[in-house]
Amino acid sequence: MQQLIIEPLNRSHIPQIIEIEKQSFPDPWTEEKFIQEIDLKFSHFYVAKVNDEIAGYAGFWHITEEANIVNIAVKKAYRRQGIGKNLLEYLIESAKQKKISDMYLEVRLKNTTAQELYKKYGFEVCFTRKKYYNDDDGLIMYKKIS
Ligand SMILES: CC(C)(COP(=O)(O)OP(=O)(O)OC[C@H]1O[C@@H](n2cnc3c(N)ncnc32)[C@H](O)[C@@H]1OP(=O)(O)O)[C@@H](O)C(=O)NCCC(=O)NCCS
Repeated sequence: MQQLIIEPLNRSHIPQIIEIEKQSFPDPWTEEKFIQEIDLKFSHFYVAKVNDEIAGYAGFWHITEEANIVNIAVKKAYRRQGIGKNLLEYLIESAKQKKISDMYLEVRLKNTTAQELYKKYGFEVCFTRKKYYNDDDGLIMYKKIS
């Protein structure tokens, strides 16, 4: 794979992100939602680029002592090449630099692919939100980061 560059989200990234969002989630975020993220002080979003193409993105919200991962996705053509791992490592490092102690995320029970990624980085399931999604339960996963 070509060199991977991770940089903060900006407006020029959004059209490509929306395409990845649509292929990744049954309930994709809208363009407006991503624009809001850029302006939110507590939101930290990054994109992973291969050459000039967006291969993936991820972000967390920093509220009190916690980081909550609110989104992570990789373009289908780039999956299983380590980009998800790179993005997750980047979020963890970024949170550590902000002196955040606890990291949470929510994942569909049926999304075992993403759960495997999170487990690899030491996230553990703390509890289940029954029928959080219309058709699925939500798992809350946690990692102590500092
Ligand atoms: C989850 C996702 C971000 C992973 O991205 P990726 O770039 O393909 O992941 P990586 O190549 O870095 O793989 C990291 C680990 O995840 C797990 N994994 C990734 N794809 C997998 C698959 N198809 N089956 C099983 N495990 C898988 C493996 O443990 C893998 O480590 P390994 O390659 O050393 O075995 C990607 O599949 C995606 O965008 N899915 C749709 C969006 C989504 O579900 N986001 C999470 C919402 S909570």
